[in-house]
Amino acid sequence: MGEALLSISALNKSFGTAGKQVQALQDVDLKVEAGEFITVIGPSGCGKSTLLRIVAGLDSGFSGDVALDGMPIGGPGIDRGFIFQEHRLFPWLTVEKNIASDLPLRNPEIRRKVEELIELVKLKGFEKSYPRELSGGMAQRVAIARALLRNPKILLLDEPFGALDAFTRAHMQQVLLDIWRANRTTMIFVTHDIDEAVFLGSRVVILEPRPGRIRRIVPIDLPYPRRKASSSFQELRLKVLSYFEKVEELELTDGAGI
Ligand SMILES: Nc1ncnc2c1ncn2[C@@H]1O[C@H](COP(=O)(O)OP(=O)(O)OP(=O)(O)O)[C@@H](O)[C@H]1O
Ligand SMILES: [Mg+2]
Repeated sequence: MGEALLSISALNKSFGTAGKQVQALQDVDLKVEAGEFITVIGPSGCGKSTLLRIVAGLDSGFSGDVALDGMPIGGPGIDRGFIFQEHRLFPWLTVEKNIASDLPLRNPEIRRKVEELIELVKLKGFEKSYPRELSGGMAQRVAIARALLRNPKILLLDEPFGALDAFTRAHMQQVLLDIWRANRTTMIFVTHDIDEAVFLGSRVVILEPRPGRIRRIVPIDLPYPRRKASSSFQELRLKVLSYFEKVEELELTDGAGI
């Protein structure tokens, strides 16, 4: 096995607000190989967003080592794409201009790439539409295309489908897997949803809160495309759930003490 694409070791991050110290992440170690699809799951406040933000270079003031392709992360960069729960598109720009963002669509190479991405995220015919004319799922697909335009080494997704209804969500999971299989972009995908984590991930990272740490990493050795109704899927889902329940118990006991 070669050098990991993303290497996180002994990562600690705390926040100090109003005289109170919160240990958001404690001793997190994680190696992600190029082409992996990592899903991260855990209760609210366990540090999922903090972990993604540190990899994105949006949060500094941590201790430990975080390196992408052997280079320590010192700030945001185009080698990492970030997708938030809400699409964050520019309302005054069309779909194609949102995807191009600050790159000139007049450039034939960029236009060709934007057209390819519109095809990939299945938005053909909506190039000239504005975000207000799109459904939540469509808008999120524009955001994914925009992030992919710069060929990031890694895509960081923070509950990207959390605001979508169940049908749209299932469809978006399929679209994202198609993109992953076509491009082999490495993914780190944060979710609250166990089904989603097991359906998408080649490994599921389970975090536990206060302080946020890795409780368990569960490999999902199921071939794609996966069937949520299959017994092997259900078995793995229950396995993840059992760790997750332990985390929740822990949280309830913690809460009772306050
Ligand atoms: N900017 C900040 N200032 C102070 N504390 C913060 C800040 N950001 C996060 N925290 C704290 O760090 C911990 C982890 O927060 P984080 O947002 O990473 O959790 P999360 O797992 O993403 O939660 P959720 O599932 O609700 O999105 C929480 O206790 C939170 O209160
Ligand atoms: Mg979060």
